[in-house]
Amino acid sequence: MKAVLPSSLVDQFGRRVNYVRLSVTDRCDFRCVYCMAEDMEFVPKREVLSLEELYQVGRAFSELGVEKIRLTGGEPLVRNNVMSLVERLGTLPGLQQLALTTNGSQLQRLAPALKAAGVQRVNVSLDSLNPRKFRQLTRYGNLDQVIAGIDAAVEAGFAGVKLNAVVLKGRNEDEAVALVDFARQRGIDVAFIEEMPLGLIDDHDRALTLCTSEELRALIGSRYPLQAEGDPAGNGGPARYYRMPDSPTRVGFISPHSANFCHLCNRVRVTVEGRLLLCLGNEHSVDLRAILRAPDYHPEKLKWAIVEAMAIKPERHHFDNSQEPQILRFMNATGG
Ligand code: GTP
Ligand code: 5AD
Ligand code: SF4
Repeated sequence: MKAVLPSSLVDQFGRRVNYVRLSVTDRCDFRCVYCMAEDMEFVPKREVLSLEELYQVGRAFSELGVEKIRLTGGEPLVRNNVMSLVERLGTLPGLQQLALTTNGSQLQRLAPALKAAGVQRVNVSLDSLNPRKFRQLTRYGNLDQVIAGIDAAVEAGFAGVKLNAVVLKGRNEDEAVALVDFARQRGIDVAFIEEMPLGLIDDHDRALTLCTSEELRALIGSRYPLQAEGDPAGNGGPARYYRMPDSPTRVGFISPHSANFCHLCNRVRVTVEGRLLLCLGNEHSVDLRAILRAPDYHPEKLKWAIVEAMAIKPERHHFDNSQEPQILRFMNATGG
């Protein structure tokens, strides 16, 4: 007989894992240059977790003390019938926060339904306010549509709406202050992200385009005084946040290169194929789909696999944009 299942997940370095990011699809209606190659092969449908399997995974994590689930992708809102999953996850009793990361293309239509289903926080990617540049960076995105989506999310009254901007040198670093202004006008947060070497891309040389958070902070700081909010441990996430004296908007910096935050890591990911990834920057993983699809599937087995996986969560990542990517997974298959 096995022991009793624990009520929380703790890894070998004493980090409590209370947050899971579920990738609900690897497909996307955009092809952002830092995230995907122009030509992408997506995972065959039969290998993708069904909505029922995704729910089973979400429920197992919540019963193991995970308080926060973030739905990611790809673009989660292009998955057929995704709202039925959101609604079911929204009723999980142990869950304190259901969140979504999206490119915003479907938000104008779906923001009210997401709010009604219990989603509290929505993060929207926005790398440029110039329609032409936005199109270049996303390859297919329509800026007006995304701005309308962001405004619909603000209107819907989520507890938090955050913008994410991946900044590439020579492409959009000159827009940092404009993006802060855009966030200030709406009273929402904005985070600037250093590009990570995930997957082989063909658009640019990551070693040449890395724009460090330090450079951006100086740039924005010359326009608005930025006051550090304190240790990122406070928000459990990778972003370091700064406040401005005259606005509720916070400006965050996610710096996987210049400021490693792995010692604070509280999260794991589940890929579209049901691979439980213990770290964004390493390949350590456990195949949950095999358990879900076994003839003798039982939720307890799934939970034990998750508990046991904690033993292989790596201590940290070692990203280096000057080398070929060590991690061949693209962000869209990984769960942002
Ligand atoms: P919160 O859930 O509020 O903490 O949001 P978040 O900023 O973690 O989520 P979001 O989906 O908006 O991701 C923003 C960026 O942070 C993406 O580029 C993520 O890949 C990156 N990020 C999120 N978690 C991690 C992590 O554990 N390690 C690293 N290196 N980057 C991460
Ligand atoms: N490096 C950093 N951020 C990335 N994103 C996608 N690919 C990368 C990458 N290689 C960002 C998107 C989105 C978030 C979930 O991940 O812009 O905001
Ligand atoms: Fe945690 Fe891995 Fe992310 Fe580092 S890269 S913060 S160890 S998940």
